Amino acid sequence: MGDAAAFLEAARDAIGGAHVITDPDIVAGHVVDWTGRWRGTSAAVVRPGSPDDVVALVLAARRHLVALVPQGGNTGLVGGSVPSAGEVVVDLRRLSRLDPVDPIAQQVTVGAGVTLEVLQSHARRDGLALGVDLSARGTATIGGMTATNAGGLHVLRHGSMRAQVLGVEAVLGTGALIRSNLAGLVKDNTGYDLPGLLCGSEGTLGIITAVRVRLVPRPEHRVVALVGFASVAAAVAGLPALRAAPGLRAAELVLGDGLLLVAAFLDRPAPLEPVPEAALLVEVAGDARGLSDQMAQVLDRLGNAVQSSAGAEDPVGVARLWRWRDACPEAAAALGLVHKADVTVPVPAVAAFVAAVGPAVAALAPAATTLVYGHLGDGNLHVNIVGPEADDEGPVDAVLGLVLAHEGSVSAEHGIGAAKRKWLVRQRGAATVDAMRAIKAALDPSGILNPGVLLP
Ligand code: FAD
Ligand code: MLT
Ligand code: ZN
Repeated sequence: MGDAAAFLEAARDAIGGAHVITDPDIVAGHVVDWTGRWRGTSAAVVRPGSPDDVVALVLAARRHLVALVPQGGNTGLVGGSVPSAGEVVVDLRRLSRLDPVDPIAQQVTVGAGVTLEVLQSHARRDGLALGVDLSARGTATIGGMTATNAGGLHVLRHGSMRAQVLGVEAVLGTGALIRSNLAGLVKDNTGYDLPGLLCGSEGTLGIITAVRVRLVPRPEHRVVALVGFASVAAAVAGLPALRAAPGLRAAELVLGDGLLLVAAFLDRPAPLEPVPEAALLVEVAGDARGLSDQMAQVLDRLGNAVQSSAGAEDPVGVARLWRWRDACPEAAAALGLVHKADVTVPVPAVAAFVAAVGPAVAALAPAATTLVYGHLGDGNLHVNIVGPEADDEGPVDAVLGLVLAHEGSVSAEHGIGAAKRKWLVRQRGAATVDAMRAIKAALDPSGILNPGVLLP
């Protein structure tokens, strides 16, 4: 065990006492995650305001053998952003650098603590946007999104965070400050790709302090339809008809029970009558010309597979329709403590997997509520289970076992965190996990960065 008191004294010297918080009421807000399932304790929260502050904190943590948990918006859903064994929380939201957008390169450098929403409104002034969007946009930070390689609603068009990140500034577990391609060179084959490695490293290799991201043209118009299908299989079979639309930006799945749950949560009538077995929230986006035609052609190609549909082209109507998908996590959380299983299966296996999930959970937890929604275009399903106690891992384990049986991945976009460490070797194989350990040992030789996360 390390010397926490000596670390905190060094931290006060380095970043100022006002940014070393030990007030239990404030610390309490940083040691529990969004779901309430992952809770820990910590002596303190430290709030660096510059990369040099982060260097000083990491060097002090090494010297005094104190473990750190990097934290951005604390919206991560796998227990990776909160302490599990008394680690000190490093709140990165003061790293709020917001450089001017480079409109020629269509890139920008931003601090790790900038929220997605702030970055989007910054980029919007130049008619640009980050290609990744997710409904926690008001709280999730660019540092956290990079550290988790976040995916979200537009992966089928723009890819996940790794596809947006060109350069990174970070403090490694050694205490070294690296600046890798903050100039945003699109081509730079000079050795290992550290920005790519830090994407998805979940705070275990370095603390990201700033990121250089590519931007995409912000679509001026969006046309959205909520399309009802008789079955999940019919919705999956409709994907080629959607993909034929050049402006396709989202193909999100909500099942009938999800629509009813969100209707109760939002106190609105169900959006489609009769309530379908499965619905797809489809968005085409771009400039106004031809978008309505693209959506009409999608519906035409889907033909008889469409049971019912509701559409919107005006911003208010579009936002209203999106709520049927955006509100799913909140509606599930309103039922109680949620066990999350964020998974991918090959798209052709989605229907069989969805059919198997409910019975697999019910066999272990007959009274549980299981809710499935997700990013169908990526084969990414979010299985939400409400009912089991916080420490009952059985139902999620059953779901993850099914995922492997369907040749999928136990983490699509949220990461491994504390939640899925025991699944890593089964997913990636011992040799790959050994290589990961070697990387961890090289970049964080004292093992002070998020030791309770990712590696088993
Ligand atoms: P945190 O939760 O604070 O941290 C997440 C992980 O990153 C932790 O391991 C932490 O240690 C590490 N970390 C944070 N900041 C840094 C840093 N600067 N340097 C190094 N490590 C760091 N995720 C998706 O991928 N797609 C979605 O569609 C999506 N939708 C969501 C909707 C809701 C309502 C909620 C609550 C969450 C959703 N998420 C989604 C999950 C979450 O928003 C993402 O994982 C996001 O990237 C986390 O960002 P954050 O700033 O909150 O990070
Ligand atoms: C989503 O797509 O809504 C998120 O990833 C959050 C969740 O899994 O609930
Ligand atoms: Zn998601």
